[in-house]
Amino acid sequence: MVAYLPSDGPDPVADCDVAVPRTGSGTALEAGPDVPDAAEIARIDPLDPLVIRRDFPIFERDFGGRTVAYLDSAATSLKPRVVVDAVNDYNTRHTANVHRGIYALGEEATALYEGARERVARFIGARDRHEIVFVRNATEAINLVAATWGRRNIGAGDTIVLTELEHHSNLVPWQMLIQEKDADLEFVPIDDEGRLVQESYDALLRTHPKLVAFTHVSNGIGTINPVREMVDRAHRAGALVLVDGAQAVPHMPVSVAELDCDFYAFSGHKALGPTGSGALWARRELLEAMPPYMGGGEMIREVHLRSTTYNDVPWKFEAGTPDIAAAIGLGAAVEYLVGLGMDRVRGHERLLTAYALDALAHGVPGVTLHGPRAGDDRAGVVSFNLPGVHPHDVATLLDREAVAIRAGHHCTQPLHERLGEAATARASFGVYSTTDDIDRLVAGLRKVQALFS
Ligand code: ALA
Repeated sequence: MVAYLPSDGPDPVADCDVAVPRTGSGTALEAGPDVPDAAEIARIDPLDPLVIRRDFPIFERDFGGRTVAYLDSAATSLKPRVVVDAVNDYNTRHTANVHRGIYALGEEATALYEGARERVARFIGARDRHEIVFVRNATEAINLVAATWGRRNIGAGDTIVLTELEHHSNLVPWQMLIQEKDADLEFVPIDDEGRLVQESYDALLRTHPKLVAFTHVSNGIGTINPVREMVDRAHRAGALVLVDGAQAVPHMPVSVAELDCDFYAFSGHKALGPTGSGALWARRELLEAMPPYMGGGEMIREVHLRSTTYNDVPWKFEAGTPDIAAAIGLGAAVEYLVGLGMDRVRGHERLLTAYALDALAHGVPGVTLHGPRAGDDRAGVVSFNLPGVHPHDVATLLDREAVAIRAGHHCTQPLHERLGEAATARASFGVYSTTDDIDRLVAGLRKVQALFS
C-alpha cells in the first residue's frame, strides 16, 4: 500500500518555475528574489515530504534527539516500508526459485518476479517487458552492454563518444573494451556551468562513432542532459546511444520510448529499491542479436556436452538464480514512485534545489557551488566547496549534527579534475527531503566555518 496519495488540484509543476541566479563553479550568486522561502515552498510544494516520511521507517530513529537530515540520496535512497515489506513477503510467504518449480510456491514466486519486470517496464515507458533485463545495478547493466554488444560490434579504429560528466561506471567498462579492441574514446567537454558543449558533441559525431554513451543526470553536479536531442543527432550520425539513467529515474518522469535511445541503465537502490536490484532496458532486436553475458542455468534452452542453445530475451541475460527478492522490492519501489506521481517528484525536487542553491549562496560565505542554475536542466544534486576546509572534514563535522552528506569525488574523478577540485561536498535530495534538512545543512556549515576561522 502506498500511504501517500497526491492531492488533486492545479498542476503543481507549473508553479515550480522558479528562477535562480547563475551558480557556475566558483561563481558568487546574486540575491535571489524569485526563490521561494520555506513557507512558500510548503504552500506550493507538489508533494508533502512530512507525510511521505511516515512511509520511511528510518525517520523513526533517533539521532541525538533529532531525525537524520539525510542528504545523500544520490549515493543511495532511503527505503519505504512497502519495499521492505515486499522483500519480506517473498522471503517469508512465497519463497521458491523462479521459472522452475511446478508447484504453487514456485508459480507465486515467478508471478511476483515477472510482475516486477512488468512494473519496471511501465515505469520507464518500455513497450515490451521482454526488453527489461534484471541486473544488480547500473554498473552491471553497462558492463553487460560493453561485454556483449560492445565485444561484437566495436573493432579496431572504432570510436566511442563519452562525456566529461560520466560516473566511473560509464567510463571504465568502455576503457576496458577499447583496450581489448584497439578502439578509441572521445569525450564531450563541459562548460564552466557544467553543461555539455553541444558544438563539440556535433564535431565528435562527424567522426562517425559507433556508440555514444552519456549520463541522463550528472551524479556529480546535477546537470540534466538534453537526451532526446542528443539521441536524434547521434542516430543521424549512425551511432547507437546508451544512457545511464541511475540519477534520473528516481527523480523525474522517464520514458525510453520518448527518449528513443537504444540502451538505458539504472540502479534500483537509488530509486527507493533494494541494493542488488537494477535494470537494463534495450531494444528487443538489439537484445536478441547480442551474445549472452554469463553462461549457466536459466539462460539456456538446451545444453549438450559440447553445445548450448540460449533462452529467449531477457532470460538469456539472467544466468543463475537471480536476486528474486531484490527484483520484487524494485517492483514495489517503482509502484510507490508511480503512486506519488513522477511529475510531482520532479516538482518537489526542483523547488528544493532552488531553495538549497539560494540558501547556500546567501547563508554560507565564500561557498563555491558547482553545476548549472536551478531550472529545467538542474537536478537535486548540489556539490560545493568551502574555502580552506576539506570536504571530508565538512562531512565529518556535519555528521555531529545528524546531517548526512557525501564528500569525495562521487565516482566522477575526471569531472572533479575538470572542476579543479580533488573532492567536493555533496548534498542530494529525495522525495522525503525537506527545506528543514537544508536549513540544518546551512546551520551546520556555519558551525564548520566558525571552527575553522
Ligand atoms: N554513484 C553513487 C554516488 O554518486 C555511489 O554517490
